[in-house]
Amino acid sequence: MREPFRIALAGLGNVGGGVAQILLTRGAELSQRAGRKLELVAVCARDRKKRRRADISHIPWISDPLALAATQADLIVEVIGGEGDPALGLIEAALNAKKSVVTANKALLAFQGAKLAELAEQRGVPLRFEAAAAGGIPIVKGLRQSLITYGIDAVHGVLNGTCNYILTQMEASGRSFADVLSEAQARGYAEADPELDIGGGDTAHKLALLAALAFGVPPDMSAIRIEGIRHISRADIAFAKEFNYRIKLLGIARKTPQGLDQRVQPAMVRLGTALADVDTVFNAVVAYAGAAGPFTFEGRGAGEEPTTSAVIADVVDIARGESGPAFGRPATDLKPLPVAPPEAHIARFYLRCDVRDRPGVLADIAGHLAREDVSIESMIQRGRDPGEAVAIVMVTHDCSETALVRALQAITASDKVLGPPCMIPIEG
Ligand SMILES: NC(=O)c1ccc[n+]([C@@H]2O[C@H](COP(=O)([O-])OP(=O)(O)OC[C@H]3O[C@@H](n4cnc5c(N)ncnc54)[C@H](OP(=O)(O)O)[C@@H]3O)[C@@H](O)[C@H]2O)c1
Repeated sequence: MREPFRIALAGLGNVGGGVAQILLTRGAELSQRAGRKLELVAVCARDRKKRRRADISHIPWISDPLALAATQADLIVEVIGGEGDPALGLIEAALNAKKSVVTANKALLAFQGAKLAELAEQRGVPLRFEAAAAGGIPIVKGLRQSLITYGIDAVHGVLNGTCNYILTQMEASGRSFADVLSEAQARGYAEADPELDIGGGDTAHKLALLAALAFGVPPDMSAIRIEGIRHISRADIAFAKEFNYRIKLLGIARKTPQGLDQRVQPAMVRLGTALADVDTVFNAVVAYAGAAGPFTFEGRGAGEEPTTSAVIADVVDIARGESGPAFGRPATDLKPLPVAPPEAHIARFYLRCDVRDRPGVLADIAGHLAREDVSIESMIQRGRDPGEAVAIVMVTHDCSETALVRALQAITASDKVLGPPCMIPIEG
């Protein structure tokens, strides 16, 4: 066997605790796979007194994360988290000290990924981040190493377990978004501050990384249109089912003739397809790999074990000597593509307008849509007593999102609707 491979671990929380435990309990088997002994040589977290799941009492404790870069370690695992320091400072210091880095930090890489990838290449050491996009699912490796022959046309993903859990529970129980969110928080499936998840930001962080791997662009949060799930109602979920769809928060990156379209958006996906059927806290990604066709990756996108599994896979790869650029191409070759304008998004759309049931309302809405060249494929209107609130629900034929938004602005401005209409694209 070659000389031992020394690992320093920054962060001992959900993920770091799992990584420490696996290195200490399954080290022998993993060392066989790596072809050299894996040794945990230093750990770092905030609170030394906190009880940890793994017995790390014999591992040197370093209080300052940045000081890990000055240890004997060959590789630093960064699982502290956060967009800035100390995670950023630690990764920079580690790379500058020619130490390999494995991180699960999507928030940081979504903003600093290109810069850090370039630094890693300049210093001749690998930077790996399998756990940062879709937890335990090997989609980063899939896009970086496997699906490279025909290029990628599009990547569609259900990338946030919290949103998926909420939408799944809303459908299963018929309860409101607010009710299900409170329950998810009580059960630990949603953070006390859930905005990053339900607002779509977390999905966008992961999408930025997948787009970089798939299309050779630098991760760029400013190129992603982000919409969360807060406005999705019980009614939308029930109507989706009537039309044979399910609502999922999707991260979508796809090539169009006008540029790269990157969106995080609730979308209707047809029942029986891979993305519609991924339930609760699971994630799924479909990569459309040109002539090779679509490939579906599914599994647990978060949690201690799946995330630990992805981190350890990166560690073993690097210990074996696998290197190569972080995003699958030299960092200096990552070039932005033009951002596809909203009019490049042509799709069928689901529309719900809440109206007071009066004669002429439907004709009025249809008129605004027709003026923007939006035609209706199907419609549901449940009868109520005249004058009562009622939902008019439509599915459009293919139309431009921009034209539809203009029509909806006109509909909202009229006195016929009770609030802004809900519009959800139908994907696939
Ligand atoms: N949890 C998941 O399912 C999951 C999935 C995919 C990716 N990730 C990513 O993995 C990373 C870690 O997530 P996590 O869930 O493990 O977080 P966590 O449970 O909050 O753990 C964070 C760890 O970092 C330590 N820490 C925080 N600030 C520090 C500082 N200034 N100096 C030294 N140590 C510090 C904490 O120390 P103390 O323990 O002493 O407080 C804790 O051990 C994040 O980037 C996250 O996005 C997580």
